[in-house]
Amino acid sequence: EYNSVSAFHAKLARSKRILAVCGAGLSASSGLPTFRGAGGLWRNYEATALATPEAFKEDPGLVWMFYAYRRHMALQAKPNAGHYALAALARKNPDFLCLSQNVDNLHPRAGHPPSQLHLLHGSLFKIKCSSPTCDWSDPANFSDPFCPALAPASEDAPSSPDQIHPLLDTSKPLPHIPASELPHCPACGNGLQRPGVVWFGEALDEEMLDAIYEWIAKEKVDLVLVVGTSSLVWPAAGFAEVARSKGETSVVTVNLDAERPENVAKLKKKDFAFAGDAAEVLPRLLEPVIGKAGED
Ligand code: APR
Repeated sequence: EYNSVSAFHAKLARSKRILAVCGAGLSASSGLPTFRGAGGLWRNYEATALATPEAFKEDPGLVWMFYAYRRHMALQAKPNAGHYALAALARKNPDFLCLSQNVDNLHPRAGHPPSQLHLLHGSLFKIKCSSPTCDWSDPANFSDPFCPALAPASEDAPSSPDQIHPLLDTSKPLPHIPASELPHCPACGNGLQRPGVVWFGEALDEEMLDAIYEWIAKEKVDLVLVVGTSSLVWPAAGFAEVARSKGETSVVTVNLDAERPENVAKLKKKDFAFAGDAAEVLPRLLEPVIGKAGED
């Protein structure tokens, strides 16, 4: 039965190599909006419309403010039991690899071992040069002058505690910043700095992709956990099927809508699907390996 926890536990006990592919639904319980469907709006901005090179070209100030706001939200959020369950699985099983589309830094903050985590779409807390001819990135001391959580002493900071910072006033549009006030690249001096995330139409880091495909191809993957993702964005959407090509692999979907008839209809033999909040479902599914919450 595709949604039997005990059948899943039996499979988990026989699984050596495990892959996870995560999306925004994993961080939903931490209070961060997803990108599509209900709750898919970042305060009335369509995230998918601002996360493009075209949007940055047209209005880099707006895109900077959008990311400053998302940084602030991510810093206010805390990893949830789902992030901790995956980090615990990684510590128990060196053959577990986690691929995440999330840029919110909640996996690392949950203590996920870096060698068992690939951030497919980069990180809100990285910055790079927007010039195609400059490869400057990753300053040691990350800062964002527009993010209140990172620069609490900025000039726009409210003078009294009950005043809302303009960036966080969700009743208003994001503040407008002219391009001339945005930070430039310290290396080439030319390009504007931009977030170290992958935008629509951009390629993922090639070395990272090579490492992922090499890991998948090395030996049969027993289990793939697909957590909180609409599986609409590539190449993330394809990793589960790539993993199947090495032999018998069970794919287990953890998603609010996992048990909708149209999704159940797509399951293959020995796949699993569990509908629910990833923060609640993952600890229960992984308990035989990671123990109950709080144990180590
Ligand atoms: N628990 C489990 N699943 C959830 C939860 C939850 N609490 N809340 C929402 N979901 C599910 C939704 O049903 C949906 O299928 O999470 C999925 C979120 O899908 P998207 O919003 O499309 O997020 P994601 O798949 O991560 O998007 C991929 O798109 O905009 C880009 O770069 C961005 O990395 C992102 C990529």
